[in-house]
Amino acid sequence: MAHDNAITALSNDALKLVKDNQIIGLGSGRAATALVKSLAKLIKIKNYNIKGVPTSLQIKLTAEKVGIPLIEADQVKSIDLVFDGADQIDSQKFVIKGGGGALLRENILFSLAKRVIVMADKTKFVKNFTRTVPIEVHPLARNSATNSIKKLGGNVQLRVLDRGYPFFTENGNIILDCDFGTIKNPSILTQKIKQIPGVLESGIFLRKPDIIYKAKLDGKFDII
Ligand code: A5P
Repeated sequence: MAHDNAITALSNDALKLVKDNQIIGLGSGRAATALVKSLAKLIKIKNYNIKGVPTSLQIKLTAEKVGIPLIEADQVKSIDLVFDGADQIDSQKFVIKGGGGALLRENILFSLAKRVIVMADKTKFVKNFTRTVPIEVHPLARNSATNSIKKLGGNVQLRVLDRGYPFFTENGNIILDCDFGTIKNPSILTQKIKQIPGVLESGIFLRKPDIIYKAKLDGKFDII
């Protein structure tokens, strides 16, 4: 709840970037949800003609509920602004994404975006990445990709749901949560991960955000 309030506080500032007739990419997770709710209010107040591009069923359902008209990523040539959260942000402004499993579609939207805006609370900011990297893998490459990731120094865990069933992404793939310890060169690591057959996406995105909002719990925020 404190997280949502912190993000809601900065949403109004981030939404100053939105103009009429734009296509807006909607990330997934709590930060994106807070932004979507604020965006819906802006659209109603200003009577804007906005279309949202969802990155997951989670955010699609939220956007439908608050009445944001939607269009899919394969129906647009580019996206004016993408608003999304992140799992970790390092001092080089690389982001780790995929905590909710939406990394493949999120990265597609990043690649289509004229500007990417990432919003996260201050607990997500680190000098070097320390958290696990979600890697989306075709189910048939589960063992081969695991072995290749181990050779890169990763400790691999198949993502499972509470009762032990494997987690499947909306694209029908599995997620390997991979612990590489402290990551000093995210770009090289990601390039190596993406060369592994069966890997569909790495949670370290090579496209860095254009604007990063760092939320503090007192309702204030920094823009990086
Ligand atoms: C979804 O797969 C993720 O990339 C989310 O954007 C990320 O986990 C951030 O989520 P929160 O805003 O809920 O922390």
